[in-house]
Amino acid sequence: MEHLDLERGNLQAMASVSVGSSIARRLEGKVAVITGGASGIGECTVKLFVRHGARVVVADIKDEKGRSLCAALGLDVASYVHCDVTSEADVKNAVDTAVSLHGKLDIMFNNAGVALGRDHGFLNGEHSASLFERMMAVNVLGVYLGTKHAARVMAPARSGCIVTTASSVSALGGMAPAFYTCSKYAVVGLMRSAAAELGKFGVRANCVSPHLLATPMTSAALGMTDEEVERLLDAGANLKGVTAKPEDIAEAVLYLASDESRYVSGHNLFVDGGFTVTKSM
Ligand SMILES: NC(=O)c1ccc[n+]([C@@H]2O[C@H](COP(=O)([O-])OP(=O)(O)OC[C@H]3O[C@@H](n4cnc5c(N)ncnc54)[C@H](O)[C@@H]3O)[C@@H](O)[C@H]2O)c1
Repeated sequence: MEHLDLERGNLQAMASVSVGSSIARRLEGKVAVITGGASGIGECTVKLFVRHGARVVVADIKDEKGRSLCAALGLDVASYVHCDVTSEADVKNAVDTAVSLHGKLDIMFNNAGVALGRDHGFLNGEHSASLFERMMAVNVLGVYLGTKHAARVMAPARSGCIVTTASSVSALGGMAPAFYTCSKYAVVGLMRSAAAELGKFGVRANCVSPHLLATPMTSAALGMTDEEVERLLDAGANLKGVTAKPEDIAEAVLYLASDESRYVSGHNLFVDGGFTVTKSM
């Protein structure tokens, strides 16, 4: 009995230490670049990372939104750089800015993405080579460049982690326009290749795959209000009673970016309330 009481006391003491220190600020001292950090999932992740002690470089093309976000968070912890992820010079500059401001890069979050076009099929008119190229440029080339330039500084440092936003459509056909689906399958391939190549340098690579969320991207792509997007999401959800929010994705990214996932690499983490398991073979 006495032994059990002692053990319980020790566990309670350990729990209070964890909650009070390392668990409360899970990215203390870390430096991150977040592409697409001015809006939606990226913006939420910037706020969460800063709350957990990280210093963040927000890399986006929405300059006004990005700058005001950083000003609100404090310029000592959040800096904005204009970065079009389709430009190698811009991506290189975002990574170099993190290193010159803070001396290193621990976390690269390749999150910028676009959803262009609404049709799902090959037989109707909205598909075109130029739409395909634009989608691939932002959603795939942007991730390749982010991964390449993060690896450039992380591999010599023998540590770091790269997180890329894929999507539930990286497991399913027919849920989104073909080009978007294609782009999200592609980034899972890039992530797995990066995990395989960079593991020997102590660098991890993973994807996070949200399902449908109300963000400016989906509201614009679907031509719906946030409330309408959420009603659509709830109607088709596997997990009832929870409406997914960008914060849910940010929490998953926090896990993948923190030392708590130090042995997780090459993984595509679905944050979809089990939606994809109901559709998979
Ligand atoms: N919202 C969803 O339902 C959902 C679901 C699955 C995956 N995703 C993915 O999540 C990521 C974030 O999307 P979101 O929903 O937060 O949308 P969002 O539109 O709110 O945010 C996307 C951000 O990316 C930025 N961006 C776009 N093109 C860029 C470029 N060329 N260079 C730099 N930044 C650029 C935008 O300015 C914006 O700030 C995307 O990769 C998207 O494909 C979203």
